[in-house]
Amino acid sequence: MARILGGLAASHVPSIGGAIARGLQQDPYWKPFFDGFIPGQQWLRDVKPDVAVVFSNDHGLNFFLDKMPTFAIGAAPIYPSADEGWGIPVNDPWPGITPLSWHIANEVVAAEFDPVICQEMLIDHAVCLPLACFFEENGTKKGRPVKIVPVGINTVQLPVPSLKRCFEFGRAVGRAIESYPEDLKVVLIGTGGLSHQLEGERAGHLNKEFDKFCMDHMAGDPSPLTKISAIELIEKAGTAGLEFMNWMTMRGALLGDLREISRTYHIPISNTAAAVQVLEQLPRMAQAAE
Ligand code: DHB
Ligand code: FE
Repeated sequence: MARILGGLAASHVPSIGGAIARGLQQDPYWKPFFDGFIPGQQWLRDVKPDVAVVFSNDHGLNFFLDKMPTFAIGAAPIYPSADEGWGIPVNDPWPGITPLSWHIANEVVAAEFDPVICQEMLIDHAVCLPLACFFEENGTKKGRPVKIVPVGINTVQLPVPSLKRCFEFGRAVGRAIESYPEDLKVVLIGTGGLSHQLEGERAGHLNKEFDKFCMDHMAGDPSPLTKISAIELIEKAGTAGLEFMNWMTMRGALLGDLREISRTYHIPISNTAAAVQVLEQLPRMAQAAE
């Protein structure tokens, strides 16, 4: 059976792509951010996953404001990397794993969720940059050590799903992964956040105290997070802070007890409170998993 090894979360900011391309990992501005990935890189080298299920929001590449699915599941054999307009370098594509994608799609629909299933999907900075940071050692090593299943969440345009709904959708994805018959080792990656707002009067809004609350409850009891409404999340974390919904969906898909391997928090990278967190899912007793 497929096994979930743990969950990784990281902010995504387009300029990370430029920093990787220019080799700025040791630059004083960037070093605290890139250093935050080192424990996750080490853990991934140790656990050697086969697949990464990546929870993120599309930034206008596949879906625009005229057509915005609440949840989307990639079921493509290959995911080309593309730039939605930041001028950042486009990287090699990432391979998909269509049988697992379809299994997840079938199971979550059976669990009464209604995602759009995408047999073609481009991946933007929200997928490519966290993958580059976690798997390519800050982009210095090329390679595609895992196949991916991208899962899209509408964090962009109201009405957005509640954190509770995201958590429950994540639960259904997690259960689907763990019922997949092949012996695959799977990691979950949630991208985006933490607090940030890019437009309007509150552009530049950050909220360190709320971000810490979110990271504490990612590692511990997530139930206080599921009580936060979308509007309250905007008030606390900013409009783009809605991207925490991607973390929440990932957290929902972690079904067992967790051990926090690392967390870093650095203000700001561009306009964003940049965070990285790594949670290992502890192996469950055989009968508990049944
Ligand atoms: C920034 C952050 C994002 O999440 C994003 O998608 C684009 C830009 C920023 O901080 O500049
Ligand atoms: Fe974003």
